[in-house]
Amino acid sequence: MNVTWVLGLPSGHEIGEFVTVDLGGTNLRVCLVRLKGQPEEIDVKQHACRLPPTIKTGDARALWNFLTDSLEEFLKAHQLTANRKDRLPLGFCFSYPASQEYIDHGKLKTWTKGFDIDGVEGGDAAAQLRNALELVALVNDTTGAMVASAYKDPKTIIGAIFGTGCNAAYVENVGSISKLQTNLPPDTPMVINCEYGAFDNAHCVLPRTKYDLIIDKESPRPGEQSFEKMSAGLYLGEIFRLIILDLHDKGLLFPGQDLTDLNEPYKLDTGLLSDLEDDPLDACCARLKECLGIHVTLSETKMACFLASVIANRGARLCSCGIAAICRMKNITSGHVAADGTVANKHPKFKERWAKALGEILRWDKDRREDPIIITSAEDGSGVGAAVVSAMTLYRIHQGSTDGVQER
Ligand code: GLC
Repeated sequence: MNVTWVLGLPSGHEIGEFVTVDLGGTNLRVCLVRLKGQPEEIDVKQHACRLPPTIKTGDARALWNFLTDSLEEFLKAHQLTANRKDRLPLGFCFSYPASQEYIDHGKLKTWTKGFDIDGVEGGDAAAQLRNALELVALVNDTTGAMVASAYKDPKTIIGAIFGTGCNAAYVENVGSISKLQTNLPPDTPMVINCEYGAFDNAHCVLPRTKYDLIIDKESPRPGEQSFEKMSAGLYLGEIFRLIILDLHDKGLLFPGQDLTDLNEPYKLDTGLLSDLEDDPLDACCARLKECLGIHVTLSETKMACFLASVIANRGARLCSCGIAAICRMKNITSGHVAADGTVANKHPKFKERWAKALGEILRWDKDRREDPIIITSAEDGSGVGAAVVSAMTLYRIHQGSTDGVQER
């Protein structure tokens, strides 16, 4: 549970021009965001590019060079460097577990989501960008989703990511955060980044299958992100691959066929699981043939579709547990869970399964007309969210508040 120094939610009247950088799991996105004081009127100009795979397992210098070069190129392309004496404020969306002593600072605790870059853990992930522009805030993607969504929808109770990783943010009272030493009044609201992908790292609660154990053992950080490794998009395709190989080894699936190509870790994308649950049987059969490069019968296709649904259903039900835990702890009985991420947005059955499980845990009336807590599509957390947090922070600084803000 990480404090974010985002004190409260936006009013919707925040204004200003901000640059944001989003270091996600797959892409790097740079945006110029203009907030005009009206949630319906936001201008976003953006440039996104795929992170070269070598960056994810390289060293710190390559990562920061790539980031600062991309930022510089963007600024040049939008003529934001030449004639401006004042440096534009920058919001940095950093979707990894960072402990924040200040809002414009974040010490990376550990890489997650398969990243393994030397020389960043334990250091300030915001340091490099601080020199490039006027860094105002480092924001987790869940915090960004929460704030960007609340900017438009006051019913937002939680910002969640169900994508490559799995995590959520909510608003706590400062007085309930026992680890925080501050003079802020106890009823001051503060967004908390739960980092619950790391739930049950001690392996006391969740029953793990042998496939979960393999995923963990083979990952760059064994023993970490236990909950995430069972529920997030990065891992669902990999669980499927391991089960298929195991059944094949036992002679129960695709007997006599050559599945050597499938030995490559992370060869199967979670998108395959979506297709297997969405497409008609013959299309699924063709898709499997194409992915596995072997002959596939209709009954084997049915088996694969069943496996895909079991894996995705477990993932969706686990995702609802994290949200249910927040709702129970905070006594939240209604509202909107603003969710982003490929699993939430692209898996055809995720939302339905997630909602069903949430109703079971929170014991909603079976005859209800509608669900009291619903999943909504989060607004752009890493662009607009990071910009709104930066606007709120600058306003706070302007008002003379120094809590969670470094001396300038
Ligand atoms: C991982 C990261 C977390 C992020 C989540 C979703 O769990 O540790 O910071 O919010 O993925 O992207």
